[in-house]
Amino acid sequence: MMNDLDAIVATAKSAFAQARTPADLENAKAQFLGKSGRMTELMKGLAALSVDEKKSRGAAINLAKQAIEAALNASRQALADAELATQLQAEALDVTLPGRQRGQGGLHPVSLAQERIEAIFGSMGFDVAQGPEIEADWFNFTALNTPEDHPARSMHDTFYVEGGSATAPNLLRTHTSPMQIRYAVQHVKRHRIAAGDSGAGLFSGAMPEIRVIAPGRTYRVDSDATHSPMFHQVEGLWVGENISFKDLKSVYLNFITTFFETDALQLRFRPSYFPFTEPSAEIDIMFESGPLKGRWLEVSGSGQVHPQVIRNMGLDPERYIGFAFGSGIDRLAMLRYGVNDLRLFFEGDVRFLSQFQ
Ligand code: PHE
Repeated sequence: MMNDLDAIVATAKSAFAQARTPADLENAKAQFLGKSGRMTELMKGLAALSVDEKKSRGAAINLAKQAIEAALNASRQALADAELATQLQAEALDVTLPGRQRGQGGLHPVSLAQERIEAIFGSMGFDVAQGPEIEADWFNFTALNTPEDHPARSMHDTFYVEGGSATAPNLLRTHTSPMQIRYAVQHVKRHRIAAGDSGAGLFSGAMPEIRVIAPGRTYRVDSDATHSPMFHQVEGLWVGENISFKDLKSVYLNFITTFFETDALQLRFRPSYFPFTEPSAEIDIMFESGPLKGRWLEVSGSGQVHPQVIRNMGLDPERYIGFAFGSGIDRLAMLRYGVNDLRLFFEGDVRFLSQFQ
């Protein structure tokens, strides 16, 4: 039969087990082990017993007390374990979820090609200039020896804007050649002033050479796998006192072998026609190895700057002469990166674009 002490221990255990919080547990503890708790009362009761009874009853009470303390500690531990388990669950991490990523940006392949071109010509002493995309008829055509009734204009059909005039911006430029005029006129003006020249008439004094490239967007009414209504060109211009086709050939060969990182290619000039150069030539290249091996590929128009264009720059063609070229940047980027459809460059599909990073 259960004695009174065993009964108290059992009651204490079940009271501790029912405690849901540490505060509940401490309240339950006070009922048994506190100053006026059940065990303390029992100890006080010892005073009325004989010495022998005190001994055996005292030892039994102590055993019961220890059992209650052990149960209390076990319950404290259980509550702490449960609290930790709840916390871990609330803060659980799914380590199998994919990590959060910040998208890494990068340059467009056409921009990468343009940066290469600028660096290569920069190393050959060429300035890099930018010009307006909405251009005046004068710069895009007339100053380039292409008057209004010239048949060459029909190959440069473009987009016209409202409110322009022959000298105010009225069209989207069809090539970067207007930059030949814009840049040269500024260059000549600056050096005439520096030389104390009055500025009237064509300039035939001494000045530093004009050596510039002008990359940028150009526009024509044209659209298929190799033509886009917006495309990129880079203009090159070198004007001095004795600049000839042989300079054009050495500069262009140096450029193209550096751009494609190979000497295994050939360059040829194919006679052509542009109103602003005379003579004029298309520049073709042929790779001697690789997937494009053996095919002549057109990469640029070029020629010796026409005397009338030299005049429109403000220079005396008896003293100044030079060459110009205009190359398709998109075409060069397609060849360098092995892209077979120009339109991929302008669709903005990251699956395509991320391959160039
Ligand atoms: N502007 C010409 C074109 O777009 C290319 C060119 C530039 C030709 C400079 C000769 C000299 O077709």
